[in-house]
Amino acid sequence: MSMLFPRWMNALPTVVAIGAISALTTVAAGTWYWATPDFWEVGYMPTQPGSGFNHQIHAGRLGMDCRYCHTNVEDSHWANIPTASTCMGCHTEQKLKPEYDPGDKVAFIREAYAADESIPWRRVHKLPDYVGNFPHHMHVRAGVSCFSCHGQIRGMPVVYQEQGLGMGWCLDCHRNVEDNIVGPSKVTDLVWAEQHLKERAQGADNATPEAKQIIKSLQESIAGGGPQNCGACHQ
Ligand code: HEC
Ligand code: HEC
Ligand code: HEC
Ligand code: HEC
Ligand code: HEC
Repeated sequence: MSMLFPRWMNALPTVVAIGAISALTTVAAGTWYWATPDFWEVGYMPTQPGSGFNHQIHAGRLGMDCRYCHTNVEDSHWANIPTASTCMGCHTEQKLKPEYDPGDKVAFIREAYAADESIPWRRVHKLPDYVGNFPHHMHVRAGVSCFSCHGQIRGMPVVYQEQGLGMGWCLDCHRNVEDNIVGPSKVTDLVWAEQHLKERAQGADNATPEAKQIIKSLQESIAGGGPQNCGACHQ
């Protein structure tokens, strides 16, 4: 009988316990690392309803301005997603020439519109609730391009989260506003903004007069505390 339960098995509970502890430590360390926004949320790309919405076609190939649909980006604390009626401006039956009409792919828009329902688009960018104050419009009005925070949307068939949106990301820009202002008249010109900011990062003194003026006034206001106070964002 003694052969059936060899002596080393007396140590089994200890071995199991040590194994469990080190496994837990690995999981905890892994979660801590991966759960920080840069690893967890960058690239976040939820599946959208129907055949989705393609920015590369509309904002890229067709050249539509962001504000045609995101109408309140300059005026409101929160950016808006357009309603189905905005889409119906073009996707009403027989409105587009047959060679451009996407047919069945836009049926979900017509159905939502006919039923007076909104299309259940899924949120891509979302700050935690304890960040009580992110005035979206002030950023746009100060001349920060959509490109700086959302990436090259004009080239995205499906929108995904390109930036970490963590606290360090906010503070980095607030400390270096001069690297990020393109001026209000250029905020939605994403292709220009990408090229222009790249050159600036490489040392070019390329800010437009409009941008230079804003940078100067911001440096003065931010030097006085500005949005670096804890209470500015955590209200
Ligand atoms: C024809 C209308 C239209 C135009 C033009 C348009 N968008 Fe959108 N946008 C949408 C719709 C609809 C959604 C929601 C579906 C999705 O997320 O793909 C959206 C989503 C987004 C999101 C993700 C929002 C979230 O949930 O976090 C961003 C960022 C965005 N758009 C930026 C832009 C930028 C920048 C431009 C201009 C270069 C632009 N959009 C032009 C219709 C439009
Ligand atoms: C200014 C006109 C215009 C508006 C407004 C517009 N679209 Fe379109 N959309 C088009 C055109 C044109 C095409 C076809 C482009 C092509 O394939 O050449 C298209 C294509 C599409 C397609 C098919 C994409 C594919 O993968 O082939 C979908 C889906 C779509 N639009 C959804 C929307 C939604 C959702 C909205 C509102 C948020 C919207 N559109 C607003 C002009 C518009
Ligand atoms: C300073 C960074 C920054 C700039 C510049 C910026 N955004 Fe945003 N945007 C964000 C953040 C962060 C969120 C998420 C906000 C939240 O959760 O409260 C967001 C959210 C959005 C949403 C989602 C709204 C919703 O409720 O689903 C849209 C659409 C959007 N932005 C479009 C734009 C467009 C278009 C521009 C350029 C005109 C732009 N953004 C410029 C950072 C920015
Ligand atoms: C790419 C640059 C950039 C990023 C990223 C950015 N900001 Fe800002 N932020 C600015 C600029 C520029 C201003 C100054 C706007 C003004 O005073 O007109 C500003 C101002 C603010 C203000 C103060 C507005 C006021 O009342 O004076 C708050 C609050 C703020 N940002 C929150 C945030 C938060 C939260 C994030 C991160 C989620 C963030 N910002 C990310 C550029 C940025
Ligand atoms: C410019 C805006 C801004 C300012 C100023 C700011 N925070 Fe934050 N803070 C954020 C954002 C955005 C997040 C969310 C990051 C994320 O998604 O994990 C955050 C997260 C946090 C968290 C949670 C950390 C975590 O990893 O879960 C704490 C704690 C915090 N902030 C404390 C502070 C304190 C203390 C100050 C003042 C010294 C401060 N914050 C100033 C924007 C700001």
